[in-house]
Amino acid sequence: MAIDRRFDAQGNGQPRVLLVDDNAQLQVAIRRALEAAGWAVTEASTGAEAIVLAQRVDPDVIVLDLGLPDEDGRQVLARLKSLAATAWIPVVVVSARAGRSEVDGLLRAGAQDYVVKPVRSDELEARLVAARRVALDHRRWSVSEAHYQRLASQASEAKSDFLSNMSHELRTPMNGVLGMTELMLDTNLDEDQRDYAQTVLSSGEALMIIIEDVLNFANIEAGGNSEVEKVEISVTAIVDDVAGGLTGAAEGKGVKLITSVDSTVPAVVIGDPGRVRQVLVNLVGNAIKFTYTGEIVVRVTTAEVVGGDAGVRFEVSDTGDGIAADNLSAIFEPFVQADTSSTRRHGGTGLGLAISSRLVAQMGGTCGVSSEPGEGSTFWFTIPVRVDLDQTPDQRRPALVDPVSEP
Ligand SMILES: Nc1ncnc2c1ncn2[C@@H]1O[C@H](COP(=O)(O)OP(=O)(O)OP(=O)(O)O)[C@@H](O)[C@H]1O
Ligand SMILES: [Mg+2]
Repeated sequence: MAIDRRFDAQGNGQPRVLLVDDNAQLQVAIRRALEAAGWAVTEASTGAEAIVLAQRVDPDVIVLDLGLPDEDGRQVLARLKSLAATAWIPVVVVSARAGRSEVDGLLRAGAQDYVVKPVRSDELEARLVAARRVALDHRRWSVSEAHYQRLASQASEAKSDFLSNMSHELRTPMNGVLGMTELMLDTNLDEDQRDYAQTVLSSGEALMIIIEDVLNFANIEAGGNSEVEKVEISVTAIVDDVAGGLTGAAEGKGVKLITSVDSTVPAVVIGDPGRVRQVLVNLVGNAIKFTYTGEIVVRVTTAEVVGGDAGVRFEVSDTGDGIAADNLSAIFEPFVQADTSSTRRHGGTGLGLAISSRLVAQMGGTCGVSSEPGEGSTFWFTIPVRVDLDQTPDQRRPALVDPVSEP
């Protein structure tokens, strides 16, 4: 919102009033008094003229007589309040018949104040000053509110830009470090040197994952990457693929990774394979990270989503640390980690769930978690999918990959 030219920062400048009144004599008297008090006065003698002049002159205050020849003053008031250009201008009503209920009605209809005839010009002037001050305060307040909103959104954009640029800039030298270290590992090294180079490589790879996460998150925040794909996907293939890639890590910790796709889930749905895969990798990756014994189960079922569309629900349950109730609500916020002592042990930046929840939202879905400290956690997300209804039942292949043994 541009700062209005009516006021400088202090509300200085000659105050302007529009006098709407058909009684010429009254006008002359009031006009003289107001001009003597420093007001610039414009006059209108009909309702129609008042509407035009209110927009052209842009007065600080309007004085409106209720007994106009062409129109009831109340209708003029209603019209002034309904126009965007004039709605905010305070109107002081002049009435000879100001019975209690009439005044109430006028104030309700948007009048700022009223004066009863015969008009005392001192009183009118004092009321105009007051009405103008209220409008000025209101104007200052809305200008500063808009200003702060703009600042907040600029700050948030600047943060996203900074993160995005920084992580982009970091990738180039990191690729140099990783590439050269790999080359070095192909040369003749003694055992210690190989050990050192191997540590450089694995630390570099860990750093690269963080850089990618930050870049990814900044891009999502900035509204980039927003084109959601709508292609044919096999849920089973994605689940198999994700589990295949992470089974080694789970088994390395002695944790079983089990997947189960319900037979009611259509073999082929229309959705965004990249996003589904990325969210699953994050959830299963977390489950492995925070589980030490027992099992991790990835389960896919059909679900109803908002609006009654077809939906698919993915659930990742583990028998790991669990999350305290206090921490559950913030867990999808960026850079939030539930237990800093355990996450320090595990590394990570606390971006995985923030990215996941935004990806799910981009797909039009919802996500959540239930967890019991010491018992384990279940992270889930549900996304709407389009189903090709022409599929024959045998195309809906029974998709149990590794059946879960129900208790
Ligand atoms: N399956 C889980 N069991 C217990 N705690 C979890 C689980 N998944 C997430 N958390 C908690 O939620 C926090 C946030 O998870 P998130 O994936 O966003 O970050 P991270 O795994 O710590 O780091 P990053 O994913 O960026 O590498 C974790 O630090 C952990 O405290
Ligand atoms: Mg994570």
